[in-house]
Amino acid sequence: MYFLYTTIASLLFFFMLKYMKRRRHFTDVKRLDGKTVLITGGNSGIGKEAAVALATRGARVIIACRDPEKAEKAVREIKFKSHSLNVLHMKLDLASLRSVRDFCKNFLQREKRLDILINNAGMPGVLDWTDDGFSMCFGVNHLGHFLLTNLLLPRLRECAPSRVVTVSCSTYQYQKLDFQDLNYNLLPFFTYCRSKLANIYFSQELARITKGKGVTTYAVHPGFVQSNWTSHYSLLCRMLMQVVMWMFYVSSEVGAQTVVYCAVSDEATKHSGGYFVDCQPATLRPFARDAGVAKKLWEASERLVKLA
Ligand SMILES: NC(=O)c1ccc[n+]([C@@H]2O[C@H](COP(=O)([O-])OP(=O)(O)OC[C@H]3O[C@@H](n4cnc5c(N)ncnc54)[C@H](OP(=O)(O)O)[C@@H]3O)[C@@H](O)[C@H]2O)c1
Repeated sequence: MYFLYTTIASLLFFFMLKYMKRRRHFTDVKRLDGKTVLITGGNSGIGKEAAVALATRGARVIIACRDPEKAEKAVREIKFKSHSLNVLHMKLDLASLRSVRDFCKNFLQREKRLDILINNAGMPGVLDWTDDGFSMCFGVNHLGHFLLTNLLLPRLRECAPSRVVTVSCSTYQYQKLDFQDLNYNLLPFFTYCRSKLANIYFSQELARITKGKGVTTYAVHPGFVQSNWTSHYSLLCRMLMQVVMWMFYVSSEVGAQTVVYCAVSDEATKHSGGYFVDCQPATLRPFARDAGVAKKLWEASERLVKLA
């Protein structure tokens, strides 16, 4: 009897986990031949799986990574899985504005096209600082991508219709921005939430600026995803997180679905500036839809990265 109860409980638990992990898959097979895609942090997790999906559709895929060794290994894997040879990497460290500027100069000299930019790379909140003195999380997740997108925007406009997809997170809703302390770096989780809220405002203001110019833009929550995210934590923390991730989180391939949807689907273009979850537009909390705050963040970011 005891054996029967244990078996039934295990089966119920298994099906409950399966149910919780269910997600939409983007099945449209639209080709991207002749298009160039740039993915930041494409050597790992969600970015790498998005790279495979887009290279499989025929796009030229460039992954922008800070570690050339990891990037080279990832390029080999992406080529193998996608059956495409049109995959390469370029060096980019989003924690250094100098590196972002050098990368863009190099990219614009080498590449004639940019059709899809995927701002994917990200850091959890860590008590560390970028080369320019910004909190690592805000600097990499928001400011690095802000500068990158601005410097590549002329090429995106030339190649219109083009897209910018920024990987945010549903944790945006747990914090608001403090304009007196944009460089907040006290409680790591809150720093992360603020950086992901900044991704959403960035996407909205970019949509406003590029309206009618052929560039559309989307912020994405990929779901909670098994990736290399735990590498930033101590061994004990990593082991605990691996168990939770294994039980509740979806695979990186599933996590990449909404990113690929926003990069490819015709349906998404009707919602430029929108927030997407599970391959469909989702509603943001009211404070995250404040166009005034989005504009204010854009202007503050311009000053911080010395664009203004
Ligand atoms: N996993 C989740 O549950 C989840 C949920 C919501 C949102 N997200 C978002 O999804 C995005 C991708 O994360 P992931 O889960 O796929 O994690 P991941 O496997 O750790 O990938 C993160 C990528 O970002 C790169 N990166 C970090 N700092 C960088 C820097 N300074 N310059 C250039 N690249 C840098 C990493 O490079 P290295 O390999 O060199 O470290 C790695 O390629 C992030 O923006 C994250 O916030 C993830």
